[in-house]
Amino acid sequence: MASLTIRKLDETIKAYLRLRSAKNGRSVEEEVRVILGELIQGRPEFTAAPSQAVLPSADPRSPTVRRADATAQPRVTLIIGGGIAAYKALDLIRRLKERHIHVRCVLTKAAQQFVTPLAASALSNERCYTDLFDPESEFDAGHIRLARDCDLIVVAPATADLMAKMAQGHADDLASAILLAANRPILLAPAMNPLMWNNAATRRNAATLERDGVAMVGPNAGEMAEAGEAGVGRMAEALEIASAAERFLRPPQPRPLAGKRVLITAGPTHEPIDPVRYIANRSSGKQGFAIAAAAQAAGAEVTLISGPVELSDPAGVLVKHVESAREMLHRVEVALPVDIAIFAAAVADWRVANEGEQKLKKTAAGMPPLQLVENPDILATISKLQDKRPGLVIGFAAETENLIDNAKAKLARKGCDWIVANDVSPATGIMGGDRNTVHLLTRDGAEISVDSWPAMTKEQVAAALVARIATAAVEKPS
Ligand code: C5P
Repeated sequence: MASLTIRKLDETIKAYLRLRSAKNGRSVEEEVRVILGELIQGRPEFTAAPSQAVLPSADPRSPTVRRADATAQPRVTLIIGGGIAAYKALDLIRRLKERHIHVRCVLTKAAQQFVTPLAASALSNERCYTDLFDPESEFDAGHIRLARDCDLIVVAPATADLMAKMAQGHADDLASAILLAANRPILLAPAMNPLMWNNAATRRNAATLERDGVAMVGPNAGEMAEAGEAGVGRMAEALEIASAAERFLRPPQPRPLAGKRVLITAGPTHEPIDPVRYIANRSSGKQGFAIAAAAQAAGAEVTLISGPVELSDPAGVLVKHVESAREMLHRVEVALPVDIAIFAAAVADWRVANEGEQKLKKTAAGMPPLQLVENPDILATISKLQDKRPGLVIGFAAETENLIDNAKAKLARKGCDWIVANDVSPATGIMGGDRNTVHLLTRDGAEISVDSWPAMTKEQVAAALVARIATAAVEKPS
């Protein structure tokens, strides 16, 4: 990926960017991202789910407010204050990075007595910032950029002095200027001698900061660096701070399918001809796997029964691998009862009746005759069950012509509740591809409604389907 140096842009463009970013309360870098985002919005090749284009909202301090590129790695500006606990901040950089969080460090003057900017930049893999009046970064008000071009500001260690400056609104160095200019959540990890922590001035400052919406992790009780001293004032451990930061950056998602059992079939089936040959189809299993992952993320207990695919098992999902349609049906029946069943597998309609026990040989008599018999229809079988029928049964209709009419007929014939219909003509690139254009057919008695969704990635289709299921589950609890 090419990187863009804003400093090297044309003066007129820079002036425009400065004005526009100041007006919108964003850093210049962030403004450029927003402009690029606006530029591609609405273009068919970049049609994205609305969540991908979240712009900063009215309450920028809200922890859920994300930068314009909300799908990217979350970003932390880590301010390292001047205290003996600063050495733990180096470990914190590693802990944040192993959680796939981007870190940019700022060191106060005092912090540099304990750790070096070189160590911080080597660990963060980013330039480290130390100076408010750095011509390199201040051409576009770098302290504003550091304050805003992130999702969270972490101060570790937050010294008594830094807390006092924050409470008073000082801005005489880079760290305090960033904190004053911040419109992102701030998380402090205080660290100081217990007497300093308990001092009335620090108590007042901590209370002011908490009232201002600043969050804190620690300090913990324990031994101090000073020999023989103990009490409350030890900085929280790096792992604790990283977890607290992660709770801000990745707040727990709603789990609308918690307590629901969901069964999903995915992928093709392989129907043996002889020990080495089989009949198959082009299904990749991607859509079914994406639905399994989305249902799991929504809190469901998911069983995925998959034909042969080249995909890794989704985390937190019980996966049963099968080959043939008959094995798939058997696994489905064993997995019952469930609340919701989604049949996304491209099950072979026929299998070879006279499967060879040995590899079939070429003979002078010509091609061996292959007799085909119909496979069990798993979707129809489960839809027609009397006692163990899942509360919601969803089938897929992959068609190459008359999509909606064929899907409506399938809904009636198979006896399921919903059908997700998609056109799999080779020109669509859906079979094996990463995107899908689907129509959701839902049945309420004899009434069938058709909801046509725009082209989306298979993950987005999965998320949208799971959201619809969650709404239905709330309306009609099983
Ligand atoms: O292949 P067909 O178009 O009939 O597939 C429609 C739906 O039926 C899909 O949801 C598919 O998973 C399911 N099906 C099945 N068992 C079969 C054939 C199809 O469960 N033998």
